[in-house]
Amino acid sequence: MAESSPSWADFLEQIAQAKNTDQLDALEQTVFGRKDGTMTLAMKELKDLDDAKRQSQAKELNEQKRKINDALSDKRATLLSPSGDALAKDDRLDVTLDLPHKEQGHLHLVPEFIAQVEEIFGRMGFDVMYSPEIESEDLNFTQLNIPEDHPARDTQDTFWVKTKGKEKKVLRTHTSPGQVRYMRSHIPPFRAIFPGKVYRKDADATHSPMFHQFEGLMIGKNVTLANMKAVMETAVRELISQDATFRWRTGFFPFTEPSLEMDVRWQGDDKTKEGEWLEVVGCGMTHPNVLRNCDIDPEEWQGFAFGFGVERMVMIKHQIPDLRSLFQGDLRLLRQF
Ligand code: PHE
Repeated sequence: MAESSPSWADFLEQIAQAKNTDQLDALEQTVFGRKDGTMTLAMKELKDLDDAKRQSQAKELNEQKRKINDALSDKRATLLSPSGDALAKDDRLDVTLDLPHKEQGHLHLVPEFIAQVEEIFGRMGFDVMYSPEIESEDLNFTQLNIPEDHPARDTQDTFWVKTKGKEKKVLRTHTSPGQVRYMRSHIPPFRAIFPGKVYRKDADATHSPMFHQFEGLMIGKNVTLANMKAVMETAVRELISQDATFRWRTGFFPFTEPSLEMDVRWQGDDKTKEGEWLEVVGCGMTHPNVLRNCDIDPEEWQGFAFGFGVERMVMIKHQIPDLRSLFQGDLRLLRQF
């Protein structure tokens, strides 16, 4: 029996050499398999031995069994949790490896800009309100003191929306109706901005039929034009550049009196080219008629309003020559920022 007894040491050696847990499983099966495992068979043969032999042989087998089991579980633990050495060898960082490029997106320049606008005005205590894009003719024009025969109401400028009811609807031509909505639902003093899309029948390098504005409104007991200029210049410097240069001109809007326009200098696409002044904002002191239309007494309250063109400012900020490229969905533009 002893001569033909299997070499347990060989099994121990094979366990030590095992490269993975599959090999360990196979070895375990070879030794302890219920039907023909080497150990299983050796145990079965015990019953054929005489008493004395059986006792010593049983002792020997149990000893080997324990050793092999220990070896199996030790090896399994090592394979499952590699040592520092094994990690260093098998899992080391290969800095020359060309990993697939991970694409990470970012906001489009326009919503990114509007988020900055909200943050900067938020710091100056301005509330943010979103006003509807389909607006009544009344709020888009009449309540803002824009007379019936004003050219802005012309079909050349405005997208009219077919409606069943009597009330005429338009795609808002500016964010100014937000002023009326806000003043009618809040008690002064207040300050707020109204960002969003506006629509005009216009298309060239600096005009698009859909573009974004953000309106601002601040009403109080003694809010002045000087406050307006301070707020607007602070905002533009924060948004575009601390070195931005401005030009203030008188303007005309039916809903502000007096009215101003502010231009910001634009370098164009070529740095050496002479810059141009781009009109980015209309503004002024809120017209008393507009305050009255909102049940606010102009003898008691006064303030200012402004309407910035977002794309114009994005063009100036990023030196983009053609506003339409912001809406063409061409990733070559967006990937530059
Ligand atoms: N609504 C004007 C426009 O779209 C801008 C403006 C807003 C002017 C508020 C004065 C006050 O051109």
